[in-house]
Amino acid sequence: MTATINILGLSGSLRRQSAHTAVLRTVAERLPDSVRLSLHGLQDIPPYNEDHDGPHTPPAVVALRAAVAEADGLLIGSPEYNHGMSGLLKNALDWLSRPHGHSVLSGRPVMTFTASPAFTGGVRAHQQLNETLWAIQAQLVVYPQIVIGGVTGKVQDGFLVDEAVEQFLMGGIERLIQTAQAQFST
Ligand SMILES: Cc1cc2nc3c(=O)[nH]c(=O)nc-3n(C[C@H](O)[C@H](O)[C@H](O)COP(=O)(O)O)c2cc1C
Repeated sequence: MTATINILGLSGSLRRQSAHTAVLRTVAERLPDSVRLSLHGLQDIPPYNEDHDGPHTPPAVVALRAAVAEADGLLIGSPEYNHGMSGLLKNALDWLSRPHGHSVLSGRPVMTFTASPAFTGGVRAHQQLNETLWAIQAQLVVYPQIVIGGVTGKVQDGFLVDEAVEQFLMGGIERLIQTAQAQFST
């Protein structure tokens, strides 16, 4: 029997019609039986405060850290807001980055993507997101940058409907799964 690979999906957007959440939802439906993707909402994560990071860490942060610790890999999508990554996501990553040197993200396989109505597809946010993950020493999965430009016409009824984008995206997910599997078997 093949062991189940657990992928945790994080969306940097709280919007009901979020393209990033739609991409995560689409991936969850396209995975092989041996892989599961579950979304973890970031809506309850409070602003980072070092004074509250310790014995009295907020419950939502404790739950997020536990979900990451249990995941074999992560798929993270961030909107581009004013040429930067989503503040919601950056804040969650700041919580996840601690304790310094013992982060649950450290060494964990992560694949990232951005999407935007602009042709640039959120590439500046993508770069920033990867930069932050480097700082946390997550294991960034090697793949060409997944930036989805002109996303408005590529998402319908909460799912990605563009075949070329889906193919490219799923190629990246395959790499993420391979990386998680390699980690798993060592
Ligand atoms: C405050 C704000 C700033 C934005 N800045 C940018 C930007 O700098 N570059 C860009 O490509 N899109 C920008 N957008 C558009 C977002 O890329 C677009 O709303 C995107 O769909 C958000 O992701 P979501 O669909 O997952 O919510 C901005 C949107 C908002 C609300």
